[in-house]
Amino acid sequence: MQLRVVADQPWEVAADVLAVPFIGEPVFGGLLAEIDKRSGRELSALASFGELGGERFGAVVAAAGEMKAGRLLAVGAGDADTISRQVVVRLGSAIERRLGGRSVKSLAIWLGDLPAHVDGGAEAVAELLARGVVEGSFEPATIYRDNVKSAPPELSELILVAPGADVAALKKAADRGVIMGEGANLARRLDNRAANDVSPEVLAQEARAIAQQHGLSIDVIEPEQAEKLGMGMFLAVGRGSANPPRMIVLRSGAEGAKDAAGRRLAMVGKGVCFDSGGISIKPADHMEEMKMDKTGACTVIAAIATVARLAPGTPLLAIAPAVENMPGPHSARPGDVVKAMNGKTVDILNTDAEGRLILGDAMCYAEKLGATHLVDVATLTGAVSRAFGDQMTGAFGTPQAWYDTVAAAGARAGERYWQLPFIEEYRSDLDSWYADFTNTGSPEGGLIKSALFLREFATVPWVHLDIAGTAYFRKKTAYAPAGATGVSHATLVELALAGAKA
Ligand code: BES
Ligand code: MN
Ligand code: ZN
Repeated sequence: MQLRVVADQPWEVAADVLAVPFIGEPVFGGLLAEIDKRSGRELSALASFGELGGERFGAVVAAAGEMKAGRLLAVGAGDADTISRQVVVRLGSAIERRLGGRSVKSLAIWLGDLPAHVDGGAEAVAELLARGVVEGSFEPATIYRDNVKSAPPELSELILVAPGADVAALKKAADRGVIMGEGANLARRLDNRAANDVSPEVLAQEARAIAQQHGLSIDVIEPEQAEKLGMGMFLAVGRGSANPPRMIVLRSGAEGAKDAAGRRLAMVGKGVCFDSGGISIKPADHMEEMKMDKTGACTVIAAIATVARLAPGTPLLAIAPAVENMPGPHSARPGDVVKAMNGKTVDILNTDAEGRLILGDAMCYAEKLGATHLVDVATLTGAVSRAFGDQMTGAFGTPQAWYDTVAAAGARAGERYWQLPFIEEYRSDLDSWYADFTNTGSPEGGLIKSALFLREFATVPWVHLDIAGTAYFRKKTAYAPAGATGVSHATLVELALAGAKA
């Protein structure tokens, strides 16, 4: 897809479709009045007919009259006071998805008044819209079949229309947005793939291909070596499946190097290729969704690739413990006691609390490789999705300054996080008769307890992002299909890029 930024007036731009965003209920003043006039008062007629109510992401196709574009797409950005960076990304996606099944090759989007409502102004809007269009073009229905009729159009050209703007600066920003969007889509494409297709070894193969493509170092740790390294929790989960576990370790920058922010950042992503629950087996309802229990792994693999495209050589680690959590003759049993890489012993009370087991060893390994700062991303608990649903990620961190740094990256990325507390009183609920602690306690406060468990495996600043609610949508929206959302990819990229050499 070619990307162009033009400073022309919207009616001068030749394209199959020109998207015209409006904020709140349409008011036909300024350039919008001129666009309306040149469309033959098509837009104001639709508004008075009740088609353009101001609903966010509501989009109506209109005739373009004497304008150079083939058609107009009037699209609602919603109320001014709730426009955010996330809304601008989603607006780009909604425009692209609204054109699903149509033959559109060139899409132009006028920035309209959006720059006045987003910090960062026109440059930010250009980046976020471009990213949104790319994310909107993602169609999981094409993973396992061809010729999906309703798929969003494959654009040969995206034109951002910003009359009077600094075209070069906007182009640079929008290019960055395209790369961010492509990274999110890489994560989503892997994530949506079925468990009979993507085993831990296949995920490792995919990571190898990505590493080669982007000049990253890769090391894939197999069970024998994991045994030597003392990864007893990781192995306990992995041994239940005929598909053996893999600890996938990707690196950019020199071994041991610190980034421009003085950090050696490691991103750790939960890679459960299928979570049946193991011996503590899950109920059948929605179990098929557990192929996306590898979202965290897909996210960190894609994020390090995106950083390699935007700022090659930035010191960074991505670690993805990949397993299949299955019941069988070799599975870990409730009551099994295993030893973690840091020497702590764990009483596995519930084999369905497997994510924290594999992450704990992966975090220890990250520190062994010299990580000074950790962020993990994991579909860890049903509790977080009961609390926050699919629009807000629950997050923990210590010390607070590191949490704040990650949260600021999230804000730049246009993603939503809500900080949850470590409640020290609940730690004793993980006390075990037999081991240093158990992997689950009573269900009350289970979300907090999952983070208290993980905290046992971090000795450096660490943030935990529980994306179990936000990793995938059960239903499509105007801006995204059902399935993997790519959540947290942009946050991790923003976080890592804060350490890019200028
Ligand atoms: N992968 C699940 C969490 C999950 C649930 C992700 C729903 C996405 C959607 C995780 O491994 C799990 O099974 N967690 C248990 C923990 C419990 C046994 C303490 C849960 O949340 O029920
Ligand atoms: Mn589980
Ligand atoms: Zn799981």
